[in-house]
Amino acid sequence: MPVEPRVAVVTGASSGIGEAIARDLAERGWRCVLLARREDRLRTLAEELGGEYELCDVGDRESVARAASAVLERHRRIHLLVNNAGIPARMSFLESEPERIEQVVRTNYLGGVWCVRAFLPGLQPPADVVNVVSVAGEVAAPGGPYSASKHAQLAFSRTAAVELGRRGIRVHTVKPGFVETEGFPQRGLPRLARRLVIGPEDVARHVLESLERGRGETTVPRYYRAAAVLQALAPNLLVRMLTRRGPRSRIGA
Ligand SMILES: NC(=O)c1ccc[n+]([C@@H]2O[C@H](COP(=O)([O-])OP(=O)(O)OC[C@H]3O[C@@H](n4cnc5c(N)ncnc54)[C@H](OP(=O)(O)O)[C@@H]3O)[C@@H](O)[C@H]2O)c1
Repeated sequence: MPVEPRVAVVTGASSGIGEAIARDLAERGWRCVLLARREDRLRTLAEELGGEYELCDVGDRESVARAASAVLERHRRIHLLVNNAGIPARMSFLESEPERIEQVVRTNYLGGVWCVRAFLPGLQPPADVVNVVSVAGEVAAPGGPYSASKHAQLAFSRTAAVELGRRGIRVHTVKPGFVETEGFPQRGLPRLARRLVIGPEDVARHVLESLERGRGETTVPRYYRAAAVLQALAPNLLVRMLTRRGPRSRIGA
């Protein structure tokens, strides 16, 4: 009997890290269901990968419920959910549009919560959930609304690791540093920081490795862990350093 392919739902698959993850999964024989808002992108990629797509705004609970029910009608079992959809908001809390602050929380934090809840009936153990968080989820720096949304997403991912772990579902919390993508162009970074920029395919490789080895919470590249340690051990030092650098300094992958 032919073996059924394993099914992966990847949010934010129309570009960047999500697209790279979907490509790697498809190469390894996974059936990918791509979720995002831009239909032209999704259709082209789904055709290329022999996959499927659903239009979905992860920040809108009803849209997530609709997409999940359409997917679960076709696939009783979802082996992997990748919560990757996200938007930037490297801006000041004081100067950003209030609507943008709300949108970044809805997308980057609540999007993953709604997707886990909606796809849970299909995530029968053993299954995996990947949450693409960020180093900005551990290091609070200028770029406030984005960093705050990623802090919330990190807390969600860590608690989900326990709650879903009890149900036999493994959670992988992946925290990338600066990655060059459409939504997050890194050309505005200071020259030294630009050397740290990696590509979406590097994150995808890391995610696939984490799936194979069950690595739990990881940072990619690993050297960003030093920034998280500094934030945790000496938060006031970080505030003083960044305050001195002035309003134009921007950190937050
Ligand atoms: N690039 C970085 O430096 C970096 C570093 C750390 C973490 N991350 C995280 O990595 C993830 C992917 O970002 P990326 O760098 O690959 O950026 P990207 O190329 O802009 O991709 C973002 C993806 O999210 C989708 N998306 C945005 N809002 C959505 C919504 N409301 N509903 C459904 N899909 C939505 C976009 O598709 P549509 O526009 O078609 O909906 C797109 O496919 C994000 O969570 C981001 O925070 C990025």
